[in-house]
Amino acid sequence: MSRPVLLPQPRSVIENDGSFTIGEGTRIVTDRPELGDYLASVLREVLDCELPVSTGAAAEGDIVIEINASIDDLEAGTVEAYRLTVDRRSIIIDAPADAGLAAGIQTLRQLLPADAGSAVPDRTRAEISAVQILDWPRFAYRGVMLDISRHFFGVDTIMRLIDQAAALKLNYLHLHLTDDQGWRIEIPGWPELTRSGADSQVGGGPGGFLTTADYEQIVHYAASRFITVVPEIDMPGHTNAALVAYPELAPAGVTPEPYHGTEVGFSTFDTRSEAVYEFIGDVIGHLASITPGPYIHIGGDESHSTTLEDYRPFIARVTRMVTAQGKLPIGWHEIGASDDLAEGTIGQYWGTRIPENDEGERASSVARQGGQLILSPADAIYLDMMPEADFRIGLDWAKGPTPLADVTDWDPATLISGVDESVVLGVEAPLWTETVETEDDIDTLLFPRLLAVADLAWADAVSDVESRVHALLPRLAAASIQYGPA
Ligand code: ACM
Repeated sequence: MSRPVLLPQPRSVIENDGSFTIGEGTRIVTDRPELGDYLASVLREVLDCELPVSTGAAAEGDIVIEINASIDDLEAGTVEAYRLTVDRRSIIIDAPADAGLAAGIQTLRQLLPADAGSAVPDRTRAEISAVQILDWPRFAYRGVMLDISRHFFGVDTIMRLIDQAAALKLNYLHLHLTDDQGWRIEIPGWPELTRSGADSQVGGGPGGFLTTADYEQIVHYAASRFITVVPEIDMPGHTNAALVAYPELAPAGVTPEPYHGTEVGFSTFDTRSEAVYEFIGDVIGHLASITPGPYIHIGGDESHSTTLEDYRPFIARVTRMVTAQGKLPIGWHEIGASDDLAEGTIGQYWGTRIPENDEGERASSVARQGGQLILSPADAIYLDMMPEADFRIGLDWAKGPTPLADVTDWDPATLISGVDESVVLGVEAPLWTETVETEDDIDTLLFPRLLAVADLAWADAVSDVESRVHALLPRLAAASIQYGPA
């Protein structure tokens, strides 16, 4: 049997003699029934049989999923650490925490035959080579972002993305919920946001929004896949849709009109108006109440219509409004222009791999104030950049097209000078949707480059990533993912 191709690359893989065959009669034994059911559903994609999930004592021939607080050689304190042991008698996934068990299930998925995920399973047995894997991630935050403002995408598309991300051991989904072109989340007491604020998108199409119930469904589904949702309300710029809904939030003399183009930097809240802070208080309060995760993203990028004099106190105040709700604020690196960020505020760097102008300095400013950084260098992991010149969709402003080879051609530990690895919370690949209109468009820009992002965020050292990505392309095809050029 050929060597398994794993991505993200685990810490340690020891191949042994022999194999285990999963098939009719194999039981999944666990006292974590939800994880057992999830593994059964993953196996159903490959096998023509329904494996029973049971509790109680395990026997030879079982697949076992179990909590184990003390596993030698596992990095302590990493909730996603796990061990996966395949031998002739059994498959055992054990880990100190459920998140590790879930990560182990994703690794087992990649040990299954390569046509795993094809629409019509025709196999009754899957043979898995004996192996022992010990594994844990390099970074705690491994994210993907979807912009549902420029083009709106609803619950089904977002849940599909959650499944795709979980398979790569990504653990954060950042939803860019608001921008100039549309406000996409219901806020009690502010009904115009999801009427005039949401009824169009780039190009003038119909738009849409998530109800509170939709959002809760997404958050709940994400949690079942060990993914945390990070909601973003972008402000004080990128707010034209909110201003269309409530013109009183705009500076005096501005008459906002619905916007269907793709320019940036033209809108701003009236940051000197108390009514604006009452509005933001309602928005953050509602989001905090429906978001179980620890973070709320406040945007803060490209506020070119807000003076620096107004921008700085606005960011200082809004970051405190987030911490007052018990959440940690995240903002794009521009927020480092303020030297009065709420304690713990996280910066998200979106400059290029070689920082230009003041972008590196803004990110270091956040770090100097005690905050961690999420790294999203635009010329490496902005997956809305086209993968090759003249591609049918995608942008190229960062540094031209971004081929697969560029995705991992940087080191998170040295990207921002003076910021070492301990300050780096993690890595996130954004997908802005100015040119993205369909699920196929999403897939084509995300894949296969998102695989390389996942490797960069998880593996302790990236090597050989392109060949592993290429080896996994048949799995993407089998899962009906329309991937772009590799
Ligand atoms: C951004 O791309 N304006 C964060």
